[in-house]
Amino acid sequence: MKTLVLANQKGGVGKSAVATLLAHYFRKLGHRVLAIDLDHQGNFSDPLRKSQRVAVAEVPASALLTQASPLITGGDFVLVAANQALSGLERQPTLHNDFANHLRAFLKAMDSRFDVCLIDTNPNPDIRMIAALVSADCVLSPIQLNQEALDGVHALLNHPRVGVRKIKAMLNQKLHLIGLLLVMVEATPFQRENFSQLVQKFNPILIPCGPKPGQYASMPRRSAVAEAQAEGLVLWEMKKTAARDAWREIELAMAVIAAAVLAESPSQTTPITPINGADHDPVAG
Ligand SMILES: Nc1ncnc2c1ncn2[C@@H]1O[C@H](COP(=O)(O)OP(=O)(O)O)[C@@H](O)[C@H]1O
Ligand SMILES: [Mg+2]
Repeated sequence: MKTLVLANQKGGVGKSAVATLLAHYFRKLGHRVLAIDLDHQGNFSDPLRKSQRVAVAEVPASALLTQASPLITGGDFVLVAANQALSGLERQPTLHNDFANHLRAFLKAMDSRFDVCLIDTNPNPDIRMIAALVSADCVLSPIQLNQEALDGVHALLNHPRVGVRKIKAMLNQKLHLIGLLLVMVEATPFQRENFSQLVQKFNPILIPCGPKPGQYASMPRRSAVAEAQAEGLVLWEMKKTAARDAWREIELAMAVIAAAVLAESPSQTTPITPINGADHDPVAG
């Protein structure tokens, strides 16, 4: 089982929407998927529940940190749903080591039952995030093209508690940063300017996507994505043309990310040719 954590210390950037799309996408590829929602707001749990495709585990997500050997239901697509108790875990510092060890042991126990585990997180750099990152194989950070988000990349890498570099050096050597996924992309001059700044500063952690240099994994802002999320629909199965068009724009990025997650080691991540020949310069007008 490969475990991917969605991480970004900002709310409302599209983490849960990306997690949901990836969960359905891995199912579409035929993989067994374990979805864990560590954000008490439940924006990963709700759309999956509404989709009626998941078996919801008997235990809530907080139990994966507080209990020694929680048991979960059978099935090839299982959701361990968010609950309110998740937000109280940070206030129990004497148990933080146990929390991280429990989650690690649980994921280890799931290793042969699932192919992919997706963990959605809360924006706070708290024990939930640490527990997820110390046990994960890889991390993906959805980011918007605004100045605040660009400043946030530094924290993603260097935060003293949950920075990927810190976690990798101290707690989890195997953690692999898949990279930054540009989200809610719009072809505005403002975003274009921020895009060129991002490329200048963080080129090595953008995710190459498409045949040309300068093409990176991205997801446009499309109302169909929000609608799919609100109604628990699978984007590519929605009747509207707009939804299918949106999926066509997103599919390559999902394919590249899925390949990176499933790769045995980062070096085996193979470049993927575009499915529809679309130009993937995200902010091309
Ligand atoms: N690509 C997108 N286009 C339009 N709306 C989006 C997109 N991605 C996410 N949204 C919407 O934006 C809001 C915030 O997204 P969400 O995934 O909940 O963010 P986060 O998990 O980072 O807090 C939600 O209403 C979601 O449906
Ligand atoms: Mg969320």
